[in-house]
Amino acid sequence: MAIEQQLKHACTYHELQCVSYLSLPIRYKNQPSSAILFVFEGQAYAYINHCMHMHRPLNCEQDAIFDETGKFLRCSMHGFIFDPKTGECQSPVCFGQRLQALRLQEIDGSLYFAEKHLSLTD
Ligand code: FES
Repeated sequence: MAIEQQLKHACTYHELQCVSYLSLPIRYKNQPSSAILFVFEGQAYAYINHCMHMHRPLNCEQDAIFDETGKFLRCSMHGFIFDPKTGECQSPVCFGQRLQALRLQEIDGSLYFAEKHLSLTD
């Protein structure tokens, strides 16, 4: 399959810059899920919105995915924090485990998921 056929439009870079994060419904490996997307230090990132601790979305308890410093992702359920660039958990219980990263590709200001096993849902 050509790489172009694997690209799924997520949003524009500008749209993402204007919000703290976006949450988009997706299917990943044939399972319903959601993706969180954000800009951190000028770079767009996307992860499956799934904390490995007790299998909750990071924004399950409040409409936020960053801690108060803005330097770490934070799961609102029990407060575990993650490196925004790698998705690596920094909290002792799950230290070193990573959020599932989703590849993004930017073309002419638009961001596309470049993931074979991801599809968009309505
Ligand atoms: S479920 Fe995310 S920190 Fe516990």
